[in-house]
Amino acid sequence: MNKERKLIIAGNWKMNRTVAEALDLVQSLKRELNGVKEVDIVICPPFTALHAVASEVLESNIRLGAQNMSENNVGAYTGEIAAVMLKEFSVRYVVLGHSERRQYQQESDALIARKAAAAHAGSIKPIVCVGELLADRESDRTEQVIGSQIRGSLAGLTKEQMIETIVAYEPVWAIGTGKTATSQQAQDVHAFIRTTLRSMFDDNVARKVRIQYGGSVKPNNARELMSQPDVDGALVGGASLEVRSFSDIIKNSI
Ligand code: PGA
Repeated sequence: MNKERKLIIAGNWKMNRTVAEALDLVQSLKRELNGVKEVDIVICPPFTALHAVASEVLESNIRLGAQNMSENNVGAYTGEIAAVMLKEFSVRYVVLGHSERRQYQQESDALIARKAAAAHAGSIKPIVCVGELLADRESDRTEQVIGSQIRGSLAGLTKEQMIETIVAYEPVWAIGTGKTATSQQAQDVHAFIRTTLRSMFDDNVARKVRIQYGGSVKPNNARELMSQPDVDGALVGGASLEVRSFSDIIKNSI
């Protein structure tokens, strides 16, 4: 597929896979995806599996991401993990502000913005998630909600940092439900996000930032979604836990 920006497809494993299971999955993925260069491939295992998976993906085309990190660098923050600790395992990306964290951990746009700045300070690229609820969409508030999440969660980043940030548009009603946004619904919101980035930063930034779609991405809908001009990749939950479906999503997107 001929794209203006290189596709980036990330697997968000959420709270799934023990170390042994993670190793099994990553070894199969390495075999399946060996030689794929057209897409940036990222997997985000739970923290506990990062060390083991890091050694497996060394010298492969698979990059490592974490699912969250602290806004702080060091100190008395029980249960938190800092960017510098993730760097020890060659983590290159971190998912921030996933709707599950916004919902269950009450993460705010302001907190996500501080985490994004901390990620950049630690040389980790943030994947910043935004998405509207079903009620927002049904009451025609999608752009209002997405616009305010984008402005809030990316506040304070420099242009250089923004270019190295990935945005993931994940309509909350499509996550884990089997309901995907139509490719046109995805394209419309992605174009709106790009316009918002243009007004916050500039045209160069807006043209360079990669915007992933997430929410029930499967092998049979990946191609259609990825063919939209402003869709530059996918953040995949459930289907990233099986070697066949994750590798087919990637292969079908090329
Ligand atoms: P899903 O999850 O692919 O299982 O819908 C996507 C996500 O939450 O990132």
